[in-house]
Amino acid sequence: MGLIDDAPRKSLKRAGAEERLSPPVLMLLQRRFRAVRPLWEDMMETLLLDRNENQYGPAPACYKVLREARLEQLSLYSRAYAAGIKSELSDRLSRELGIPERHVLLSYGSEDMLKQVVHCYLHAGEMILLPRQSWWYYQAVAKEVSGRHVHYPMHERAGRFEYDVDEILRLYGEHKPRVILIASPNNPTGNSIPQETLSAIVDRCNESVIVLDEAYAGFNGNDIDQLRAVLAARKRIVVLRTFSKYFALAGLRIGYACVGEGLEQLISFSARYLGYNQLSEKIALAALDDVDYYAGITREMRADHEMYLREFRAIEGFTPFPSDANFILVRYPRSTKQALKQGLEQRGIIVKFLDDPTLEDCVRITVGTREQNARAMAAFQDVAKNVLHFNLRSSSGLEAS
Ligand SMILES: Cc1ncc(COP(=O)(O)O)c(C=O)c1O
Repeated sequence: MGLIDDAPRKSLKRAGAEERLSPPVLMLLQRRFRAVRPLWEDMMETLLLDRNENQYGPAPACYKVLREARLEQLSLYSRAYAAGIKSELSDRLSRELGIPERHVLLSYGSEDMLKQVVHCYLHAGEMILLPRQSWWYYQAVAKEVSGRHVHYPMHERAGRFEYDVDEILRLYGEHKPRVILIASPNNPTGNSIPQETLSAIVDRCNESVIVLDEAYAGFNGNDIDQLRAVLAARKRIVVLRTFSKYFALAGLRIGYACVGEGLEQLISFSARYLGYNQLSEKIALAALDDVDYYAGITREMRADHEMYLREFRAIEGFTPFPSDANFILVRYPRSTKQALKQGLEQRGIIVKFLDDPTLEDCVRITVGTREQNARAMAAFQDVAKNVLHFNLRSSSGLEAS
């Protein structure tokens, strides 16, 4: 290994050091990167707004659980089965949702639950329907079992994306897919599926297993009533949820599925006989208890979502899409992609530039804390004005100088 290993060089490059510093200073920083790292980070903290993490962090009660962790949570297996349940958490969720405890399955993030559902139901050569614009991982998981996929379109109408129920029903008739995946809110388009559209799909596509990915539920209003109604209809549906996003516990890796009727195979497939991660469960329960904390940070994020909409609409050539999640999708003039990306990186802002052919001219920005959002928005405005030489109207509609 040489004196300068690649990771520090890449980090400095990403932070824009090459353009800002003279070569001798840059070389010194590269060589002494480890020693100067705290200083460097103070000078130019990189903002990672590319993976839809909840930057406010979890409720204070979650840290308290960690501080007070006991031997039983760390060294012993759970004895919840003696009470006829899988865990305290699945029991609590089942009571909140009005479904039997055995219909709540816990997993290592909702990513794990998605994998379990697909591995359980999709066999080689069978078909899964996926949204055209969606999380790349759906396709990857289908490939793991040699499944085939067909995309259904997500239409852009009046400045937002929408599900097309007729097209989903048509594709269902044509392909008789084993699994239909719906994401609400969808990543990266941010739109949700209306209750009646979902009901029409669940009612009519009754030979498929419907998987509803609700990883981003909760960021735009109380969603629990809608979920209860979906489950009360007792259909062949699996709803995937997570503590990663709304509850800001992505590092814990705790997700779950709410299983509808006629899906016993999945319940057996996911059975774990030695219980779940007891510390994670306690932290998740503490999060569920602190309703006010999460309502408070969600209000902040909604206000900043409005700020992003307003400010992006004021930049020539930029179109933001309203979102029900903790991220926002923004379209920009495609020819500026490299300059925009580089300009933001030089200002320490990392956001997700999409590669999907239908969204090649879009960037997805995680809505962070108040301070982070202000910094990210200012960086976009600075690059638009001083690098791309675009006009900026003030968000009140007046031309900014
Ligand atoms: C749409 C969607 N579903 C599910 C997940 C998985 O989240 P987790 O495994 O942390 O629950 C993600 C992660 O970003 C996502 O974007």
